[in-house]
Amino acid sequence: MTEKKKRDSWGSRLGIIMAVAGSAIGLGNFLRFPAKAAANGGGAFMIPYFISLLLLGIPLMWIEWTLGRYGGGFGHGTAPGIFHSVWQKNRFIKYFGVIGIFGPLVIFIYYVFIESWTLAYSFFALTGKYTVLSDQSSLRSFLAGFQGLEKNQYFNGIGTAYSFFLITFLLNIWVIYYGIKGGIEKLCKWAMPLLFIFGLLLMIRVLTLGTPDLSKPAWNVSGGLGFLWNPDFSALKSARVWLEAAGQIFFTFSVGIGVILTYASYLKKADDVVLSGLTAATTNEIAEVILGASIIIPAAFVFFGPQDIKSIAQSGVFNLGFVTMPLILNKLPLPELLGFFWFFLLFLAGITSSVSLAQPAVAFLEDEFNINRKRAASIFAVVSFILVQPAIFFLGRGVVDELDFWGGTFFLVVFATIETVLFAWVFGMNKAWEEIHKGADMSIPGVYKFIIKYITPLFLFVILGTWLMQEWLPIITMKNTAVADKPFIFATRLVLLIIFAVLAVLVKIAWKRRKFSASKEEKK
Ligand code: ALA
Repeated sequence: MTEKKKRDSWGSRLGIIMAVAGSAIGLGNFLRFPAKAAANGGGAFMIPYFISLLLLGIPLMWIEWTLGRYGGGFGHGTAPGIFHSVWQKNRFIKYFGVIGIFGPLVIFIYYVFIESWTLAYSFFALTGKYTVLSDQSSLRSFLAGFQGLEKNQYFNGIGTAYSFFLITFLLNIWVIYYGIKGGIEKLCKWAMPLLFIFGLLLMIRVLTLGTPDLSKPAWNVSGGLGFLWNPDFSALKSARVWLEAAGQIFFTFSVGIGVILTYASYLKKADDVVLSGLTAATTNEIAEVILGASIIIPAAFVFFGPQDIKSIAQSGVFNLGFVTMPLILNKLPLPELLGFFWFFLLFLAGITSSVSLAQPAVAFLEDEFNINRKRAASIFAVVSFILVQPAIFFLGRGVVDELDFWGGTFFLVVFATIETVLFAWVFGMNKAWEEIHKGADMSIPGVYKFIIKYITPLFLFVILGTWLMQEWLPIITMKNTAVADKPFIFATRLVLLIIFAVLAVLVKIAWKRRKFSASKEEKK
């Protein structure tokens, strides 16, 4: 048997906390969260949000850190191997683990493309390319031209967007190529503090806007904060609001994806997971609930007023980030600098998340096929580069939304459910509790033993069940898809199925090889 290579490791405890927080803090904190909160009952949204945080987010964070560290002890950094280590008697469990490589790969495909827009726009801000535009429709055409959806006076095709995509993609691959300690940890250690500085500067700018138009005294910052935080309790009766809140917790924490499993697999056996997991989660919440909530929505309220703010909040995250926010910043002094802060903040948030999304696939090749890191990163680069092309060229056909639904929404809940059941019921809660606390710097309140065993899985089953009842049929039959887009959506689903099947076959091959080399060792 070829000598098994030593697995990568983290350089410091701060390093892994920064990296997990970097994975969690992303476009979700600064765009998705304020949009969802404003559109779903403002302050009332925060009730299901915080309940989901306590019953889903925090438990899953601990489950994934613990399972990852446990699997890492067996030389496995991804879900197929980690699940198999937990339930060795079950021949099929490793195939459920395929979701933990498939999900992040699918999210990476569209995430890296959107991330490249933020890099492009930070460059456009500095060079003043869009800062002279002062109305919604010009900024909309600017975005559509950039995305290659139309040819106009701003862009003559997708060439500029493609160049920025290439730069962003290569930057990601470069970081991954240098591994955990030499790449990801180094990136997060400078990107995360910078992200917080930019976020704070923008927050202070927005909170000191006062009442810019004195003829409209109600259009002020406290009105904007009130719009986001005043509770509309009638929203609590809607199942959709609860689902949206739970979905936001998954997305923002990066749980149910598979990336935290992989990051935690590089920990040593006695490294703390309890306090580290909690610190990463708290950092994410500060970025989301304090910074994320204090920038875009209050600013939009001050400039567009109480009438238009609702439709702005519901206009989708791309519109919010790339049309509304530049429009607001263009009305202020130094729009070039403020625009740069905004888009570079998004870029930093994006890249620290996207490198984490790439890592499970790379770790899978390294751990299960004994391929060295640089070669694994190169294989990942070629495959993901090919896969991202449809997202770029068929953006207007709903391909990105489709990828987001399967990779970034549906499978997160399925995967989280499997993990929780495996952890609390197969591994067993007593053993699990002991495992979580190995090397722990604090102990978890005892009530969490009950929550992880009963409440978290129940909550997950209810979410899955409600989804299946309310949304399954229209989604499968593409009921709400435009006729012209149906072939594209169908093709996307086919590609997703092929990716899943290929990964499952790779898992089968890896286990066959493992068995073969184990029996050869025995004969020796
Ligand atoms: N957790 C990452 C985000 O919020 C994916 O964008």
